[in-house]
Amino acid sequence: MLLFTGGTVYRGGQFREEPLAVSGANIVPCPANTDGASVIRVPGCLIVPGFTDVHVHFRQPGFAYKETIYSGTFAAAAGGYTTVCAMPNLNPVPDTLEHLQTQLDLIKRDALIRVRPYGSITRGERGAELSDFAALAPYVAGFSDDGKGVQSREVMREAMEHAKAVKKPIVAHCEDESLLRKDWAIHDGAFARRNGFPGNASESEWRQVERDLELVRETGCQYHVCHVSTKESVALIRDAKREGLPVSCETAPHYLALTDEELSDDGRFKMNPPIRSADDRDALLAGLLDGTVDCIATDHAPHSAEEKSRGLRGSLNGVVGLETAFPVLYTTLVETGLMALETLLRALCARPREIFGFASCTLSPGEAADFAILDLNRPHTVNSTRFHSLGRATPFDGWGVSAAIAMTVCGGKIVYHNLPYREGIS
Ligand code: DOR
Repeated sequence: MLLFTGGTVYRGGQFREEPLAVSGANIVPCPANTDGASVIRVPGCLIVPGFTDVHVHFRQPGFAYKETIYSGTFAAAAGGYTTVCAMPNLNPVPDTLEHLQTQLDLIKRDALIRVRPYGSITRGERGAELSDFAALAPYVAGFSDDGKGVQSREVMREAMEHAKAVKKPIVAHCEDESLLRKDWAIHDGAFARRNGFPGNASESEWRQVERDLELVRETGCQYHVCHVSTKESVALIRDAKREGLPVSCETAPHYLALTDEELSDDGRFKMNPPIRSADDRDALLAGLLDGTVDCIATDHAPHSAEEKSRGLRGSLNGVVGLETAFPVLYTTLVETGLMALETLLRALCARPREIFGFASCTLSPGEAADFAILDLNRPHTVNSTRFHSLGRATPFDGWGVSAAIAMTVCGGKIVYHNLPYREGIS
């Protein structure tokens, strides 16, 4: 038995100063007699349910030079995550069970934490023919063509009907290509115009959200919007929820912690959708506070150093996020008083699990021992050269943050630790 002592346990919505006991893969009631237990002292730390990220790119199979299942799950463990959902823009694209099997085998062999893949919505993410929903459904968290919007209304309608039949969500990257200039570098706003950058119009996102919400109304499909970045999308999703549609959404730390006014011409600020205006950032924050925005996902999207070296115009879209999410969000939202810690924790763990129907993770006896141990008083500077991810491009490099992940436990195993030398197993 492992006994974590000296910390505060966040259980059932309450912060309790009590030990946490783990036996095998599960959390167990703390026994009266703890003789023989291995004790791990975590004084001053907060033990919380393991974070769940419903939007990561692990690049394997197909692009292992950017990230592997091993390096990606190591980065996730270092960020306090115990479950992640992996996007299907891979090679092969998981559009049939045979293609998915390659990825499932790698996960089984190399993953340090729980990885739930997505199946693609369309074959090869080409937007035309549907993937094999029935064969994929038992193994996937949902269906997504992330990286691209599904341009055809008819294809999306059919996809929603299939997803509904197999009881899985459509997880939509919303992007109407007809409203987008191909050479966009950043958000189409005052900053882009002042500095001569080609812009990405907010409309390209929210028009497709609007279309899809009409289709949800017609089909009744469970629908989750990826990386919401615009105030208009937030308003549409708020109205859809009021109407009772089965809709949820995520945003990402970079849309909450940054605005386009803070950009520099560096590939580590290039992602799709782009970082938008202060009004958009404020709407996302308000959405999180009133429950319109359900969860915070990282959209961890690693690329090689060369692919990110071509400035805002030429770099590939995507930044890494797993290792900075909690420290950045805690420092910018909770320490500043913009958000309660409980609200942040809900967006990082409980809510994504509810949406995707994963087993609850509340640190109660009988559950899997999946948790993160947070040190809320560990000021440090984000240093991308120390990342476990193979990707290094982050807009947060060099930021001063106040909290760190001290340890991550998944299925009763310590998958990451970063405790001060004086603590440890006794
Ligand atoms: O920035 C992004 N990177 N946005 C996406 O939609 C795809 C992702 C990737 O796969 O690199």
